[in-house]
Amino acid sequence: REVGCLSIIVLGASGDLAKKKTFPALFHLFAQGFLQENDVHIFGYARTKLTDDDLRARIRGYLQKGVSAEQEDVLSRFLLLIKYVSGSYDSADGFQLLNKAISEHEISKKSHPGNSRRLFYLALPPSVYPSVCRMIRQNCMNPSDLGGWTRIVVEKPFGKDLNSAEDLSAQLGELFTEEQLYRIDHYLGKELVQNLLVLRFANRLFLPLWNRDNIANIQIVFREDFGTEGRGGYFDEYGIIRDIIQNHLLQVFCLVAMEKPISLKPEHVRDEKVKVLQSVLPIKHEEVILGQYEGYKDDPTVSDSSNAPTFATVVLRIHNERWEGVPFILKAGKALNSRKAEIRVQFKDVPGDIFKCQKQGRNEFVIRLQPSEAMYMKLTLKKPGLEMSTIQSELDLSYGLRYQEVKIPEAYERLILDTNYILTTALFNPMFDSIRGDQQHFVRRDELKVAWEIFTPLLHSIDDGELKPIPYKPGSRGPEEADELLAKAGYVQTHGY
Ligand code: BG6
Repeated sequence: REVGCLSIIVLGASGDLAKKKTFPALFHLFAQGFLQENDVHIFGYARTKLTDDDLRARIRGYLQKGVSAEQEDVLSRFLLLIKYVSGSYDSADGFQLLNKAISEHEISKKSHPGNSRRLFYLALPPSVYPSVCRMIRQNCMNPSDLGGWTRIVVEKPFGKDLNSAEDLSAQLGELFTEEQLYRIDHYLGKELVQNLLVLRFANRLFLPLWNRDNIANIQIVFREDFGTEGRGGYFDEYGIIRDIIQNHLLQVFCLVAMEKPISLKPEHVRDEKVKVLQSVLPIKHEEVILGQYEGYKDDPTVSDSSNAPTFATVVLRIHNERWEGVPFILKAGKALNSRKAEIRVQFKDVPGDIFKCQKQGRNEFVIRLQPSEAMYMKLTLKKPGLEMSTIQSELDLSYGLRYQEVKIPEAYERLILDTNYILTTALFNPMFDSIRGDQQHFVRRDELKVAWEIFTPLLHSIDDGELKPIPYKPGSRGPEEADELLAKAGYVQTHGY
């Protein structure tokens, strides 16, 4: 069967997300040949009145910075693919215009509407998702009867708590099937996050160790060395748990803790994620530390009495055979002393130690998601030289050094490719389909529901002011109480060499 042309529609084309993530990702995909000129058209849609050229000039403005002289021509060709339609997010007129523009493009490419592909990317605040999705449903669907499709990509936050998320899911669920909805969590597009299942399940070394018999505790950490910067209004409504922990870190947690799926089929992987989430015990308040950096409330868009945490450490405990008793410590903070995201697996002490070296530290396996992707294993070794004593050293795999020739793709590039390219590729190469999966790296509705179930009671206690954030200095490690909680959870600081 012939595959029709592809239209990518970026709703919210003049906004911040489109600028920072969506258009750069589309450009990089185009530059690498994944989006073909004879096949693809990109439509920007937003309320601002702009011409095609105005939008192209704006996009050139921010994309040009990272473009070499040889790529100038590629950028110009990319910009020519972009058209703009302006309209509101809740009235039919604009969406009818948009539909007309897409249909004209399909006709110009001699594509039958029934096999054309339409990808709507909502780079918009979630408050407008229901109305935008209704407008798309009523005005912009292709018949898809010849193998074409319409898909909707939505960004987090998907709701603010269990009820609002369920409401949103129900509203979108009335308009689109689960197969048409792609809930993006860009952490699932990161190279070392995608590596987690391979690492765990394709290496004999890890299989027997990955459990409560050997692992003492696991930390999943996100740190940023800048504050909310211009996003205070948004952030203040959500706080760090909704912004980072309930989604990005919890997705990483699933991949670290879940059982082996039957296969890599998206449904099999997502079934296992749901199961492990369902095994998480209620969070105890005494295993939570919240922080707010000093100066956060100076932002005029942030309320003076804000209780929103910009830092949180939360211990999750899993009630199953593999993990009973092993604390998973999820930690995220803004305006800290460094930018880093990592998973730190700390192993238990060696029983019957004859070297008396426990003080130097335990084995740790660290997976650094960013910056500078790396994995390293902390080991106790004999100190090189004549002396017979032990030291802590590292077995180190740094991606920058080992895979110099590979450009690690941006999370968004990979995920966009998963959503809209897979069908074409899969038709020619079913292997690719089974390996990449289409919706594997997107969040399923039931997964989202359990994720909210875990955090909603805690979030309500924070919203009600029952739990308060501790002030910390910007540029610090966050509140000291978080380190105390870590120690209480059994983390033992290791010493380098
Ligand atoms: C976003 C959050 O989802 O992720 C931001 O809303 C955060 O607050 C960002 O800065 C971090 O993404 P990355 O890929 O830079 O770690």
